[in-house]
Amino acid sequence: MMDSEHARENRRYWNERAPDWVASGERNWVDPMPSWGIWGVPNDELPLLPEDMRGLRAVELGCGTGYVSGWMAKRGARVTGIDLSEAQLTTAKRLAAEHEAAITFVHGNAEATPFEDEAFDFAISEYGAAIWCDPYAWIPEAWRILAPGGRLVFLAHHPMASVCSPLDGSEATERLERPYFGLHRLDWTEVAEDPGGIEFTMPIEAWFTLFREVGFRVRDVREPEPVGDVDETRFFVSAAWARSWPSEIVWFLEKPA
Ligand SMILES: C[S@@+](CC[C@H](N)C(=O)[O-])C[C@H]1O[C@@H](n2cnc3c(N)ncnc32)[C@H](O)[C@@H]1O
Repeated sequence: MMDSEHARENRRYWNERAPDWVASGERNWVDPMPSWGIWGVPNDELPLLPEDMRGLRAVELGCGTGYVSGWMAKRGARVTGIDLSEAQLTTAKRLAAEHEAAITFVHGNAEATPFEDEAFDFAISEYGAAIWCDPYAWIPEAWRILAPGGRLVFLAHHPMASVCSPLDGSEATERLERPYFGLHRLDWTEVAEDPGGIEFTMPIEAWFTLFREVGFRVRDVREPEPVGDVDETRFFVSAAWARSWPSEIVWFLEKPA
């Protein structure tokens, strides 16, 4: 596999961190109702997945432990999950076997997949390719592998949250910690607080320009907030912060028929 510098680093990071994601993967695999993002917004309120996916060829880009793939398989889709980390895929394959879900798992890079043109009707990423891949690589790749009329849905950090994230990797503040214009590659490998991999986000205008140039139509966009009485900090955002400013963004795109 020919990988970019960020893909090599992210593969190393995710192989190392995979054990930390087993328990949440197991919990999500047993949960029959999909819920999304760090605030666990139910699919009824934030419908990333259609209720009926029978007959759809679906792909999860950066599938991790594979629970989103499991939810799609339960809804009747024929599902493929691709991930860069061998260790994450080991967990995904074990959980799919335990839940008797027939899912094809592929080891690969969502920026340059091995799939045929127009191989899928539905593509999704929840914090997979959505944040770990360069949008200028993975968005055109998603377009290539979707059939005309196909949908792409992805959930990622909101650029507002990135702008308010201190450079040392600590929790989002109420200050503007970095410029909004030019947001693209965020390298967390050397930060003092909880070093991570290399992520990507962009200003809203840059996303729209990319979607338009690639050929996607924007069907909807959502900025989910914490639900219920949750009051803790999840990852780098407190619930109080996320009730005032958007921590996450979901894009609903379509490749015109
Ligand atoms: C946070 S998990 C996403 C899965 C799940 N929805 C979740 O939120 O736990 C991120 C996954 O993206 C994968 N990933 C990172 N870069 C990737 C790339 N270039 N291609 C495919 N998968 C990638 C990682 O290996 C990891 O398993």
